[in-house]
Amino acid sequence: VKGGFATFMDKEIHDQPKAVADTLLGRTDEVGNLILDELRIDEAVLRSVDKIIVIACGTAAYAGHVAKYAIEHWVRIPVEVELAHEFRYRDPVVNEKTLVVAVSQSGETMDTLMALRHAREQGSKVLAVVNTHGSTIAREADAVLYTHAGPEVAVASTKAFLAQITATYLLGLYLAQLRGTKYADEVAGYLAELALLPAKIQEVLDHAEEVREVARAMKDTTSVLFLGRHVGFPVALEGALKLKELAYIHAEGFAAGELKHGPIALIEEGQPVFVVVPTPRRPTLHSKVVSNIQEIRARGARTLVIAEEGDEAVTPYADVVFRVPRTPTLMMPLVTVVPLQIFAAELATAKGLDVDQPRNLAKSVTVE
Ligand code: M6R
Repeated sequence: VKGGFATFMDKEIHDQPKAVADTLLGRTDEVGNLILDELRIDEAVLRSVDKIIVIACGTAAYAGHVAKYAIEHWVRIPVEVELAHEFRYRDPVVNEKTLVVAVSQSGETMDTLMALRHAREQGSKVLAVVNTHGSTIAREADAVLYTHAGPEVAVASTKAFLAQITATYLLGLYLAQLRGTKYADEVAGYLAELALLPAKIQEVLDHAEEVREVARAMKDTTSVLFLGRHVGFPVALEGALKLKELAYIHAEGFAAGELKHGPIALIEEGQPVFVVVPTPRRPTLHSKVVSNIQEIRARGARTLVIAEEGDEAVTPYADVVFRVPRTPTLMMPLVTVVPLQIFAAELATAKGLDVDQPRNLAKSVTVE
């Protein structure tokens, strides 16, 4: 069942190229137009929506957070991302012009289900991005866009996260195509870039041992910080969540720009900090993050940097660099999160912990 891997988690991390490839599969017609057959929401409704709200919990919410950057850029409609349990108990402004996207691996998360019901009661159409066929969220939504990650057994989500990003990107490109905010050749260009991702993820996996070695050497660490900017921000949050869940280590993710507004006070000699660096082909974003690395390094941080191949600007300030292949900015989360998953799993293993079944957690949280 574990396909020769010691844990489900390890297997699922290695399943990720396939999870992304399978989620992309069969979603274009012979002339390259994106077709989302399952999206049984009237095209007129999809043309008229003026806001998208993503509701989800945990890792699924971070996938939504990543999707916000892409969908707003491509479709030019505002996207809010809200934790389902917070959405449900405030008084959210949702109506028939709101498209609510419920993201869930299991399709059984009670918080997300209750938020979905609330949105539908207010007249919103709900699209579920779900991995488990026939699950409650899939059944109760107006339409379903399935992620094809295959069964995810380990409690900590990995391949579902990548598949959720892929599926929500397909949704964004579909809306851009439908609403005419991107030309057909632009949509085709983005799809072609997405199609290159499985091989790039595989390249990162091929270097897993470098990450594992660093993780083993850090098994007595008690606190790790994660910084990212733009789409790297939700990746930092996800890296911190993986480490908390699996290794029971205090871990926090921050938006890199927020550093000087408080978190930099945490930096002291030897504090490990992961930094997710955007591509140098986006110089304004990139240079900001490189200065953040300099700032924390000057205060004694031990910097573990995830940067693109050939990005030498980070080298002078990095204690360790994990390389990812050249990837367009919006698609970087699909590669940059992988070393963080491997790191958390290996550190937990080095501590002798049960990576597949961390304490106090359940795979699907079916109570509110
Ligand atoms: O099944 P869901 O995607 O709805 O689950 C949502 C969260 O409970 C889940 O992502 C949780 O945060 C994982 N343990 C993260 O690894």
